[in-house]
Amino acid sequence: MTSRLIRGRLLSFRQAPQNIDDTRSYFYEEDGAVLMQDGLITARGDYATVCAEAPADAVETDHRPFLIMPGFIDTHLHFPQMQVVGSYAAALLEWLNTYTFVEEQRFVDPIHAAKIATAFFDELVRQGTTTAVAYCSVHKASADAFFAESHKRNFRMIAGKVMMDRNAPPALLDTPQTGYDDTKAVIECWHGVGRQMVAITPRFAITSTPQQMEMAGTLVREYPNLHMQTHLSENDAEIAYTMELYPNHKDYTDVYDHYGLLGPKSLFGHSIHLSDREADAMSDSGSVAVFCPTSNLFLGSGLFGLKTLDERDRPVRIGVATDIGGGTSYSMLRTMDEGYKVLQLQGQRMTPLESFYRITLGNARALSLEDTIGSIEVGHEADLVILDARATPAMELKMDAVTRLTEELFLLQTLGDDRSIAETYVAGIPAKSAL
Ligand code: GUN
Ligand code: ZN
Repeated sequence: MTSRLIRGRLLSFRQAPQNIDDTRSYFYEEDGAVLMQDGLITARGDYATVCAEAPADAVETDHRPFLIMPGFIDTHLHFPQMQVVGSYAAALLEWLNTYTFVEEQRFVDPIHAAKIATAFFDELVRQGTTTAVAYCSVHKASADAFFAESHKRNFRMIAGKVMMDRNAPPALLDTPQTGYDDTKAVIECWHGVGRQMVAITPRFAITSTPQQMEMAGTLVREYPNLHMQTHLSENDAEIAYTMELYPNHKDYTDVYDHYGLLGPKSLFGHSIHLSDREADAMSDSGSVAVFCPTSNLFLGSGLFGLKTLDERDRPVRIGVATDIGGGTSYSMLRTMDEGYKVLQLQGQRMTPLESFYRITLGNARALSLEDTIGSIEVGHEADLVILDARATPAMELKMDAVTRLTEELFLLQTLGDDRSIAETYVAGIPAKSAL
C-alpha cells in the first residue's frame, strides 16, 4: 500500500506529566512529520529526517500549523444511546427506566443497529476519537452490527454485548445461559478479527442476578486476556439498591470482587462514591476507574475525586470517557473541559498537559494498549488526530494572545470541539475529509 507522509507540529506523550512545566513528559517537534504504511507508523521526527526516509511515491499532506497528536481514546460509551443523549430526567435510575431501556429495545432489529453503527463511527471520526470502549445492547445483533462497521472501517475498538437478566423490560433481558452463550459467540466471531476486541459486559449488579454474575466470572476466567466492563458506584440510589439486592457483601465493589470481576483488564464506569476499602480493592487488583464528567454532571451523579484516587498511597488506575448517552458530548475535548471543572469544584487541579495525556497515552495505559495506540511511535498503529486551535473566530482571537504550547492546549480544551478536528487518520487513512 502507498505510504503517507504528514507534516505538522508533533505532540505525543511519553509519560504522565507531573506539572505544567514537565517538558520531559512529552515529545514535541515544531516542524515534524509522521510516515505511515499499512496502518502503522514507520517513522516520526523532524520533517527533514522523516522526509529523507520516505519512499519516492509517498503521498504527502502538509498540516502545518496544526498539531498532530495520537487519536483520542474514549474508554466508556454506549453505542445504542445515540438517540438517548439529552433526555430529561432527575437521576440515573429514572433516566435508565424512562428512556434508555426503551431505546435499547430497538436494537433487536439488525437494520436499525446497522444504521446507528454507521452514524456512530461517522461521529467518532468527526470528533477525532479513533478507539472507544463501547457497550452494545443485550442483543447479539447489536454487537454484530457494531463490529461489522468497525471492521469495515478498520478501527481499533473494544465492545461487548451487554449481559442483563433482571430489573429491565422483558424485551431487554437475556438469561445466565443465553448471556454466556451469546457473549461467547460474539467473542468467537469478532475478537482478534482485524483490530476488533471483545469485552465481557455485565451491565451492572442491579440488572444481573447472582447466577448471571457467576457466568460473567466464568467468562473472565475462560478469557483472561479480554477486557471486562461494568458500572460501579455512580449514584446514591443505585448503590443503596445494589446493597439491597446483594445484602451479604461488604460494599458495591465487593459484589464484583466476589464474582472474580476485578483485575487489570476490568473497567468500572463512574466509580464516584468509593470508600477507602473499595479504592484499596480497586488499586490492589489493578482495576480501572473510568471518569465520565459530562455524564456525572448531567445526571447529577456526583464529583469524581480524580486526584484523591490518583495520589493515594495505593493509587487507582484511571480512564476518562464520554459515557454517551448519559454523557452530553462525543468530544474528548469537551469531556476534559468538564472534567477540569469537576476537579475545580473539589479544589483539585488538572494541567492541560495532563488532560491531553489522559485522552491519549493515559487511556491507552488504562486499556493496557500502550504498546499499540496512544502515542506516535514507530510500530504503533497509525491513528492520529490533527488539531486546529484557530477553528472558530473566538478561538482565533484568543490564539492571537497565546504564546505557549500549554496555553494552546488549554484553549483547545476550553473552546474546542469537533470543529477543531481538522483531520482524523484511522489506520493511516484520512477519514474525516472522506465523510
Ligand atoms: N448504569 C447501568 N447502565 C448504565 C447506562 O447505560 N448509563 C449509565 N450512565 N449508567 C448505567
Ligand atoms: Zn455507561
